[in-house]
Amino acid sequence: MKKILVATVKPFAGAAIEKIKSVFEKEGYSVSFFEKYESQDDLKKAVADVEALIIRSDKITKEIIDAAPHLKIVVRAGAGYDNVDLAAASNHDIVVENTPGQNSNAVAELVLGMMVFQARNHFNGKPGTELKGKKLGIQAYGHVGKNVARVAKGFGMKVFAYDPFVPKEVMEDDGVTVFDNLEEMYRTCEYISLHIPANEHTIKSINFDLMSKMKIGATLVNTARKEIIDEEGLMKMFRERSDFTYLSDIKPDNHEAIEEEFGDRCFFTPKKMGAQTAEANINAGVAAAKQIIAFFENGDKKFQVN
Ligand code: 3PG
Repeated sequence: MKKILVATVKPFAGAAIEKIKSVFEKEGYSVSFFEKYESQDDLKKAVADVEALIIRSDKITKEIIDAAPHLKIVVRAGAGYDNVDLAAASNHDIVVENTPGQNSNAVAELVLGMMVFQARNHFNGKPGTELKGKKLGIQAYGHVGKNVARVAKGFGMKVFAYDPFVPKEVMEDDGVTVFDNLEEMYRTCEYISLHIPANEHTIKSINFDLMSKMKIGATLVNTARKEIIDEEGLMKMFRERSDFTYLSDIKPDNHEAIEEEFGDRCFFTPKKMGAQTAEANINAGVAAAKQIIAFFENGDKKFQVN
C-alpha cells in the first residue's frame, strides 16, 4: 500500500483531518499525520519511506527531498509554494502541486477583519472610522485578491486592482476599477492589500520608494509573504510618515522595534493565520488528498507547479 504522509508543523483543524482520512480510506489508501514536529531532522526521518506528501508552509528543501527516495508527489495544501525547492523536486522527478483558491476566502476575511480592527483603534472604545466609501487597492488579482474585492464591496468600499498578468476584463467584470500603473494605485487608495507571491521578482519589491507614494493616512495590509517587504524601507516609512499604518499576518523580523515605537499604527497576528479556518483546512486538505489519488490512479498532474 502507498505511504502517504500529512506533515504539518501547523496542524489542520480536526474536522479537516477527519475528512482527509475519509477521502483516502474510501479509495483504499491509508494516511498518517506528522504534526507539530520540532526540526527539519525530524521531518527528514518521517519522509524516509513516503510516496506522497501533503504539507502547508512546511519547508521542503533539497535535504528533505534527498531523504525521501520513494517520494513521487508533494501537494502544498494552499496557494504559495515558495517553501518547496522546485528544482530539487524536478531533479528527482517529483511532481509538486498546490491547491489554488481553496483557502482564499479565509485570507480575504482576515484582510477585512484586520482593517476593521485598525479602523476602530484596536477596539479600544475610542471613535474610529468606517470602511464604507474608502478606496481599496488590491495588488495582484488572483484567487485571494478576487475574494478580497468581493468582501470589500460588501463593506461598501470602492475597489481597485493592479495585476499585469490578469486580463482587464476579468477584474472589470467583478466591478473593480483597474490601474495600469502601480504607483498611481498607491497614490489613490486609503488601503492597499498585497496578494503577490514571494519570488525573485517580488522579494523586497514593496520598498520605501513605493510605500512613500501612499496617500496620507493610508494603510498597507500584508497577508501574502514577509519576504515581499523591504523591512528597512518599512521602518523608514514608519519613521518618516507618522500617518502610515501597517497590518500584517506575517510579522516582520523587526516587529518588536516597530511595535515598541509605533504600536498604535501596526498590528501583527501572533502566528500566520490567514488560512486558519476549519473551512479553509477542509477545502485545501481534501483537494490535496483528491489530487494525490488522481495522480496515482490516472497520472493526473493538473495542478503541477514544477
Ligand atoms: C497559502 O499560501 O496558501 C497561505 O499562505 C496559507 O499558508 P498556511 O497553510 O501555512 O497557513
